[in-house]
Amino acid sequence: MIPFIDLHAQQKLIRKRIDKRIKQVLDHGQYILGPEVKELEDRLSSFTGAKYTLCCSSGTDALLLSLLGLKIKPGEGVIVPAFTFASSAEVMPLLGAIPIFIDVKRDTFNIDPRKLYDSLKTAKDIGINVKGIMPVGLFGQPAEMDLINDFAKNNDLWVLDDAAQSFGGIHKDKNVGNLSEAAATSFFPAKPLGCYGDGGAVFTNDKDIYEIANSSHIHGMGKKRYEYDRIGMNARMSTIQAAILLEKLEIFPEELKKRQEVANNYNKTLNSLNLGIELPKINKNFKSSWAQYTILLPENINRDKLQENLKLKNIPSAVYYPIPLNEHKPYNRYPVSKSGLSVTYYLSKNVLSLPMHPYLKKDEIVYISENINNFIKNY
Ligand SMILES: Cc1ncc(COP(=O)(O)O)c(C=O)c1O
Repeated sequence: MIPFIDLHAQQKLIRKRIDKRIKQVLDHGQYILGPEVKELEDRLSSFTGAKYTLCCSSGTDALLLSLLGLKIKPGEGVIVPAFTFASSAEVMPLLGAIPIFIDVKRDTFNIDPRKLYDSLKTAKDIGINVKGIMPVGLFGQPAEMDLINDFAKNNDLWVLDDAAQSFGGIHKDKNVGNLSEAAATSFFPAKPLGCYGDGGAVFTNDKDIYEIANSSHIHGMGKKRYEYDRIGMNARMSTIQAAILLEKLEIFPEELKKRQEVANNYNKTLNSLNLGIELPKINKNFKSSWAQYTILLPENINRDKLQENLKLKNIPSAVYYPIPLNEHKPYNRYPVSKSGLSVTYYLSKNVLSLPMHPYLKKDEIVYISENINNFIKNY
């Protein structure tokens, strides 16, 4: 089977360095909040340009800590796409807040800024005090942050970037992590920058957000140990994961370049086949981290059959996401923007993600593309 994500190829390159880093942690024995965590936070701040980085236990916890830092209150609303992973929306109800579902754009899979006004109005009309917007850099490309930030500013809202998939992406001259009031990323193993367990980080330039998130991730601790300023949680990053990430971060810029080459090769090969497939579009002034390479199949193609057929040829594929979030039982009570979610529904039926990782070879891309071609041409 061609790997969907090849963590072994990457590990082969850096195994010795990772072993050495882990050994250092075993030697000093500070498994919680060891020096590697601070070192990683400093390195991530240099990488993103964000003044403050807080490493934590997962991408979901990074979103939760960011919302705490932004002082969200029960009953307040946050606009979030319906076409995303559950984490983006689950963190609001966990704090008593309300997700308001907005549609995305067909070519980028990200929030449609033209629909922000309607989403805000939908919430206001039913008495919800909207406080912020949570764009998601789906599949690696940051959302249109300039437009979203402008809208937010004009309406007195904050913006929390769910950058779980888009870490490593760029908008104009700024890196993901530094495109809004706060950003949260995930270091889940399959993410562009992943560790060997769960991990995440909060990025911000705002001292207040950082300090609240920092305190909250250690049980709401105050200035002294066993002195508490607020209700918090246990959301620390393990020192061993930080040590692993430090080595992975070393090769991350090179891996981002390789992911871009893989995407270019897919684009070139699939384009030349003229199959009526819509390929992922990267907007001008944006760079994707290519967490996924996701295509849009022609409507008449049976996606399940194509996936089965590819599997027989040892080609894995995945559907992110088959059901809009608002359709799931725990989420169907939350408001949907009055401009609707027609693109979200369309994408849910027709997207398909293909193998994507920095070490995917050109002949593998040709093999994958040829098999898609054979299926569609003989359909
Ligand atoms: C868009 C999005 N947001 C949030 C998360 C949550 O990250 P984690 O799995 O590290 O909690 C993920 C991870 O899958 C994600 O894809």
